Amino acid sequence: MCGIIGIAGTKPVTDRLLEGLKRLEYRGYDSAGIAVIEKNNHVSGLVRRRAKGKIRNLEERIELEPADGLFGIAHTRWATHGAPNEINAHPHFAGRVGLVHNGIIENFTSLRDELKHTRDFVTQTDTEVVAHLIDEAMKSGLSGKDAFAASLKKLTGAFALGVVIDGVDGQIFAARRGSPLAIGLGDGENYIGSDAIALASLTTRVIYLEEGDWAVVTTDNVEIFDLNDTPVKRDITIVTGSLAAAEKGNYRHFMLKEIYEQPETVSHTLTHYVDAFNHKIKTPSELELKDLDFAKIERLSLIACGTAAYAAYVAKYWFEQLAEMPVDVDIASEFRYRKPALIKNSVAMVVSQSGETADTLAALRYAQSKDLQTAALVNVMSSTMAREADFALPINAGPEIGVASTKAFTSQLTALLSLAICAGVQRGHISETYEQKLIASLTQMPRLIAETLTLDDDIEKLAHDLSKAKNAFYLGRGMHFPLALEGALKLKEISYIHAEGYAAGELKHGPIALIEEGTPVIVIAPTDELFEKTVSNMQEVSTRGAKVLLITDKEGARKAKGMANDILICPDVCVETAPIVYAITIQLLSYHAAVHLGTDVDQPRNLAKSVTVE
Ligand code: G6P
Repeated sequence: MCGIIGIAGTKPVTDRLLEGLKRLEYRGYDSAGIAVIEKNNHVSGLVRRRAKGKIRNLEERIELEPADGLFGIAHTRWATHGAPNEINAHPHFAGRVGLVHNGIIENFTSLRDELKHTRDFVTQTDTEVVAHLIDEAMKSGLSGKDAFAASLKKLTGAFALGVVIDGVDGQIFAARRGSPLAIGLGDGENYIGSDAIALASLTTRVIYLEEGDWAVVTTDNVEIFDLNDTPVKRDITIVTGSLAAAEKGNYRHFMLKEIYEQPETVSHTLTHYVDAFNHKIKTPSELELKDLDFAKIERLSLIACGTAAYAAYVAKYWFEQLAEMPVDVDIASEFRYRKPALIKNSVAMVVSQSGETADTLAALRYAQSKDLQTAALVNVMSSTMAREADFALPINAGPEIGVASTKAFTSQLTALLSLAICAGVQRGHISETYEQKLIASLTQMPRLIAETLTLDDDIEKLAHDLSKAKNAFYLGRGMHFPLALEGALKLKEISYIHAEGYAAGELKHGPIALIEEGTPVIVIAPTDELFEKTVSNMQEVSTRGAKVLLITDKEGARKAKGMANDILICPDVCVETAPIVYAITIQLLSYHAAVHLGTDVDQPRNLAKSVTVE
């Protein structure tokens, strides 16, 4: 999660870029940089200043070596590909092009391979290749605008970009695909920024680019184009009120904003666990888990509450399948009272967004009292669990304000899948080729999540129907069984509709008695080896009058044609990462059902974000 700001100005921009960067420092702070088009004695040129670490360091750098102009872009980085040093800091230059980027360019390796004979690459980033692409396209005779548009078509991934080009004065190019980007409208000036917070001191008039949009921003004009390069008009939002309100951007609730942040938050999580540049999972020592040796662990105990516990249930499948590691999952409030038969050489890992949940903390302390090695997978690294466990593992989802957990859930899943791969590699169950395939699947997730978010309008319509129900059921098999549990929990939490999740094969052993005419049943079933079996269970409820919504992929939709009342088609995704991508659909479904019912989505009745009582 990096931060971008850019100014197409009529007054010098450097101080204002730095001010905007400070507002964005919450998004990343391992290095920062600016690039401006300087004009001295009518000679213009693109210059940059960069520094490792906090924005203060960049300021000091600029004090020593001033740079200013009327057009500029700036960036604060949270490293994904390549170490956090000055060489890898943005803006990246190639020929006449200066570029800042947030997100992941998935196909950077193949693009680099195509260009490496004619271009010199100096960084370890996935970003640099984009600057080369644009510069190369201009060399072939395209204008800056056409070169930018043509280069965008070659990129796969989830990203936001800001570009200035030497000799193409007066224009900043911007694009949004999967990562947020806003355009600020000023008085005789215009801006780009990762969010309205970055632009807050510059303007209150903001256009939030839509998925796939790109734009040409000048001092007196903003041209916006959609994914097909068709000129489009986008609404202007007036951003007023407190910073907290501004933080919601143009989202109605924090929960919706947090759902939409997931392409970014998942890539943030991946950054910690994956060496994306070398297509490797990080080793325990790279993760600073000094003496943790997965090869020696005989059993893993995952312990958590609520949504975090469902992430742990999904992880059980991953650790068992990818690392052949026996896993127990415990609800934290049950763990110590059931007096579990613990074996030596096992690790107890607590999973908690807050790191403060009383039951989970007590379970951690209980495990420690029994001399188990302990680990805490948390979102808040200053939390008690992170401090008390032998190993603290971050999920890096950023502050989660909505009480119903969304982005923390997908980040917990992403971290747990990464750890399962790490364990599988260390235990010798994952070959190098399989590891590379898994890493490719992991790095595709931000893009696939962004694609799934485009189903929002369809999901909203489906949610209207769901909101009329008194009871609902969620079914899934394999790792989609815990996802069904999470789907039901989300619906209960914020819409107050009674919902239950079941393993699809279990419904017939009792709960099927509750199915009557029109009972909504949501079936989560991407095409995998269990698909046919899940479809059989779907038909069992369908023939008893259930109103079935099948959440699947293209192939699943084809196979189940005519068998469900509604089918929601998700992007194709590999079996290991499917629960993470499919999680988006159940989150949006609950959200829209709750909004339709008019509940307090961000602060649902009787619930608390962090439950510090037993
Ligand atoms: C509360 C929240 C849930 C959350 C659970 C565990 O019950 O309402 O959304 O999943 O606590 O919280 P934790 O911070 O430990 O993940």
